[in-house]
Amino acid sequence: MRHLLSTADLAKDDAILLLDTSAQMAATQSREMKKLPTLRGRTVVNLFYEDSTRTRISFETAAKRLSADVINFSAKGSSVSKGESLKDTALTLHAMGADAVVVRHPASGAPHMLAHAGWLDAAVLNAGDGMHQHPTQALLDAFTIRRHLVGGGSDAGTEGTDLAGLRVAIVGDVLHSRVARSNVHLLHTLGAHVTLVAPPTLLPVGIETWPCEVSYHLDETIERTKPDAVMMLRVQRERMSGGAGGAFFPSAQEYSRKFGLGSQRLARLPGHSIIMHPGPMNRGLEISADAADHPRSVIVEQVANGIAVRMASLYLLLAGSDDAHDERTSL
Ligand code: CP
Repeated sequence: MRHLLSTADLAKDDAILLLDTSAQMAATQSREMKKLPTLRGRTVVNLFYEDSTRTRISFETAAKRLSADVINFSAKGSSVSKGESLKDTALTLHAMGADAVVVRHPASGAPHMLAHAGWLDAAVLNAGDGMHQHPTQALLDAFTIRRHLVGGGSDAGTEGTDLAGLRVAIVGDVLHSRVARSNVHLLHTLGAHVTLVAPPTLLPVGIETWPCEVSYHLDETIERTKPDAVMMLRVQRERMSGGAGGAFFPSAQEYSRKFGLGSQRLARLPGHSIIMHPGPMNRGLEISADAADHPRSVIVEQVANGIAVRMASLYLLLAGSDDAHDERTSL
């Protein structure tokens, strides 16, 4: 692997290598000394053209835990506000010797452009591009699912395993969600059965070509598929005209009633199922406080697992996959 741009490009072996390496990274994070010397002398640039809390902080933490030098670049307050292009920004990062560029951008395809236009000689990691992809989010979600539903809450015995036979319901604003796109591809590659649940207005054109089932009814889906994991999606009101749901659903109350996860639906889930959300949450809209803070909610753990997954991603891209095995054994 040279770049990490999309889960649709990830072969099953690469996905499992990333999950196994994440487990090794997670094990190092319970030590008193969390820092590893692995990327000493390497430079990681976090290039964020869109707001972020979890992804930006966890990539920064991951790079620092691997002893890389980290440069944080936010479009706000940079020469981007004076009209500087992505190309000129990339050439500047190249001149500064970036070894890896972690990029979040509102335009779908911007990370692909950075990786392939020849402006940079660096590994490019997609930290979310438009409504397209967010591969490290899907990897941390798969890692969390594997830990809970294959490993019983730990990584013991999970090495090399996929998610075959598991059922995952992904619920809500699929239309605007790069998290949903990334998860559908990765979970399918890993053998899980995915059901997307949304109102027809919040499903994209061409959904029938995605490797998953589609439903318009959450209660029916819970009853029929008995999901092992339920992933609630954020309603992305900032991408909807008017900002309050616009023409996508009649009212917040009706959306919550049909597609929200509250205590009544929670009670109908199988006893072992886990509750997920990529964050940030709209509490009271797609998920109630009861569900978000429930003992079966793994939402905070997803954030913690993001550090291990991003350490693994940086490590495999920068340390190189050929010598990855030898180096991994010395973590
Ligand atoms: N899940 C996620 O991408 O969160 P942030 O927007 O806070 O990075």
